Amino acid sequence: MSGIDTVISVRDLDLFYGDFHALKRVPMAVRARYITALIGPSGCGKSTLLRTINRMNDLIPGVRVTGSILLEGQDIYAAGTDVCALRKRVGMVFQRPNPFPLSIYDNVAFGLRVAGLTNRRRVEEIVERSLTSAWLWDQLKDKLNDSALSLPLDQQQRLCVARLLAVEPEVILMDEPCSALDPIATARIEELMLDLKAKYTIVIVTHNMQQAARISDYSGYMLLGEMIEFGETAGIFTTPKDKRTQDYISGRYG
Ligand SMILES: Nc1ncnc2c1ncn2[C@@H]1O[C@H](COP(=O)(O)OP(=O)(O)OP(=O)(O)O)[C@@H](O)[C@H]1O
Ligand SMILES: [Mg+2]
Repeated sequence: MSGIDTVISVRDLDLFYGDFHALKRVPMAVRARYITALIGPSGCGKSTLLRTINRMNDLIPGVRVTGSILLEGQDIYAAGTDVCALRKRVGMVFQRPNPFPLSIYDNVAFGLRVAGLTNRRRVEEIVERSLTSAWLWDQLKDKLNDSALSLPLDQQQRLCVARLLAVEPEVILMDEPCSALDPIATARIEELMLDLKAKYTIVIVTHNMQQAARISDYSGYMLLGEMIEFGETAGIFTTPKDKRTQDYISGRYG
């Protein structure tokens, strides 16, 4: 499962919330510029695994992680890792859109300013490029000073994607990015993801099996903190090897 196009390699990953063993010797190889979906019943550890990839779990007291996650061959849990730099390379989109209470423009420019980019022309260019990539430029170009919070939810979610794109991540993590959206808005985010995978590697958690089947190239089925089966989505959904995956896919469980 490893090779030159494996961008993230998770090996023997264990995660404890205090005494609770939430991830159990999880393996996963994420290929560059593909969409990988994590599926499984509620509480199986999908969000926990996703958050380990940019060390968001570090923010939770009492969390202990063992094993390794290599990002382009470098262990992100090694001592001395710059976690801010890591989170620029591996950005995250959450269930509820979470734009900052700032203008549309300032949301997208935020990460650039944090990174110390002061050249106004350059910031403008990147804001335009990022909004264009998130399919928002045409709709929003004349109201860049409006509050991001005034936008409909699906535009807010795509604005959060644009905010990530501005700092040029390599990997985009999405935790049920459509769960607050209606079917039309969901379809738009799905199309956007398919468009973005030409340049970015995407890992998505979804409860929606049709969504995983529609958009992902690889899928991992998790159960009670274990990676039960990981492979090409077509195979997982048509000829799962593990009986437990079969039961879940066919709707008998979860
Ligand atoms: N901050 C935390 N402290 C303690 N336990 C936690 C914490 N976050 C998650 N857990 C536990 O870890 C397990 C995995 O949770 P996680 O949120 O990763 O599951 P999930 O697969 O994303 O579920 P869902 O589909 O409901 O979002 C669950 O048993 C959950 O209760
Ligand atoms: Mg979750």
